[in-house]
Amino acid sequence: EQAGKGEYDHFMLKEITEQPTSLAQALEGRIDSANGRIALADFEPGTFADVDSVQFVACGTSYHAALYGSLVLNQAGIRSTALLANEYSVSAPPVDDDTLVIAVSQSGETADTLAALRQATAAGADTLTVTNVVGSTAAREADDALFIRAGPEIGVAATKTFSSQAVMLTLLAQRIAADRLGDPPADLEALLAELEAMPGRIERLLDESTARGIADRYSDSESYFFIGRGLGFPVALEGALKFKEITYEHAEGFASGELKHGPLALVTPETPVFAIFTGQEDEKTLKNAEEAQTRGAPVIAVCPDGHPAVDAADEHLAIPETVPDLAGLLANVQLQLVSYYAADLLDRPIDKPRNLAKSVTVE
Ligand code: G6P
Repeated sequence: EQAGKGEYDHFMLKEITEQPTSLAQALEGRIDSANGRIALADFEPGTFADVDSVQFVACGTSYHAALYGSLVLNQAGIRSTALLANEYSVSAPPVDDDTLVIAVSQSGETADTLAALRQATAAGADTLTVTNVVGSTAAREADDALFIRAGPEIGVAATKTFSSQAVMLTLLAQRIAADRLGDPPADLEALLAELEAMPGRIERLLDESTARGIADRYSDSESYFFIGRGLGFPVALEGALKFKEITYEHAEGFASGELKHGPLALVTPETPVFAIFTGQEDEKTLKNAEEAQTRGAPVIAVCPDGHPAVDAADEHLAIPETVPDLAGLLANVQLQLVSYYAADLLDRPIDKPRNLAKSVTVE
């Protein structure tokens, strides 16, 4: 096992560091740079022309990627919703033959997700699986499959598969919208160029990250809060999930605007707040973060250099400039590193957290 980790102490750090490569692999051949178009040759032209609405089903980290994809799809003009697969049997919205149900699952073997997929099929929906594992049950059972090509992920806490899922879902969302609505959106070319630049940006972020220092200064806190708006919201949820999975400390993610509707009661000088800025109504998120800061909470702004939040916050985790559709994914890499270093300082068994399994095959 040690050999597989190479120079790294843990698979998790290795896998975080692999993200430039895993994302490049995911994107390989899927963008037609010469024409500024989505290739996604995995699907015939017009495959999604009849899709009226999309339901995503997933669990855990994959649910956060699904929520990300669902928000991108809504922005692109296609009705969509992300549902927890384990709730689907009791709360599935109606489907018809113009509904596409997309199961998002790294392993393709999560029992809850397979059950939701089977239920959707029985109800008459078209189905698609977005997974890392070719030949997995979900890939075989759905009408179609899209592979994220992240390579094997050994650490129980998902890292590189989340970024590959989110990027593939961003691409898929644009492809569904283009098939369904005709003309691609005006800003598609810029988005595709930014997607292609992501591996390089993450490389730079990893080289320059100050996450270890932040973990060092705050790893004896009581609770950790993560806030974000729009596409920053699923990233806040994922930041908190990663943190609790591997540090065993209490962490919660909130929509920035929800902080004042309850969670603010928990805020003290012992509860650092990580605020994610994606370029979507950042001024409101900054105001929300400052409300926590007024109550004594240290605020860590995750945003580009030169952003107004840098001066207002107590600490800064820098992300390269990009478009709002992708900024949260850069922020997520910084948050993965903070969780990793905090867990390392607390001497937790990072790759195999207690009570958790890489893939849960019971409902
Ligand atoms: C388990 C893992 C999580 C993962 C979830 C869904 O709970 O510990 O890291 O996000 O299953 O797994 P999947 O393979 O469906 O993405």
